[in-house]
Amino acid sequence: MTRSGLFISFEGIDGAGKSTHIEGLAHAFREQGRVVTITREPGGTPLAERLRTLVLNEPMDAMTEALLVFAARRDHLQNVILPALGRGEVILCDRFTDSTFAYQGGGRGFDWQVLSVLEEWVQGTSLVGEKSEPVQVLQPELTIWFDLPAQVAADRLVGVRIPDKFESQPVAFFEHVAAGYAKRMQAYPSRFARIDSDQAPEFVWRDVVHATQDKGLLPW
Ligand code: TMP
Repeated sequence: MTRSGLFISFEGIDGAGKSTHIEGLAHAFREQGRVVTITREPGGTPLAERLRTLVLNEPMDAMTEALLVFAARRDHLQNVILPALGRGEVILCDRFTDSTFAYQGGGRGFDWQVLSVLEEWVQGTSLVGEKSEPVQVLQPELTIWFDLPAQVAADRLVGVRIPDKFESQPVAFFEHVAAGYAKRMQAYPSRFARIDSDQAPEFVWRDVVHATQDKGLLPW
């Protein structure tokens, strides 16, 4: 899949503190003269935002959740991510497919293989071009995983806002989510950067910048 833009995703359990660092990186890339789009999943388009409201608030089984987040992702890819990458822009995406493997796969225990098939359908090039071509699956160049012990994240969330369906899950759920992230990182070691988020925000920010520089995406 040819593209001239740059795609970075941000992952972690709820309460891991991604947002300020996404803003910080947007600022750093804009200083380099790049056009930056900050977006999120599920969401990022009017349709995907409607699906987000359903996924975050309505009780449903894990397969329904997975199908809805992948439907939202498809719309987001078609209408926001792929066009922006084609224009050479920087896409900073608050969550992407690793969240589906971590939450629906790890947290909910939904079948990993089925998620892989959905991933190939939604992000793959198999439905365009020659059928005999090997499938390429669109992934970010860099995935920054804000890793934090589940209990620490839960303590941080207390009283911050009214919890949604996921934020009100018990600590054990988030331990399974974190295990899902670890499994994804093992499968894709070169695109993942794990950041220890159980440290002061300025050190987390330092590590985020270093991870981006290590990848050659920002100058040292
Ligand atoms: P957030 O964007 O505010 O972090 O919240 C999104 C929530 O949705 C978060 O709890 C993780 C969950 N989620 C999934 O369960 N599966 C997914 O594929 C994505 C992108 C998010």
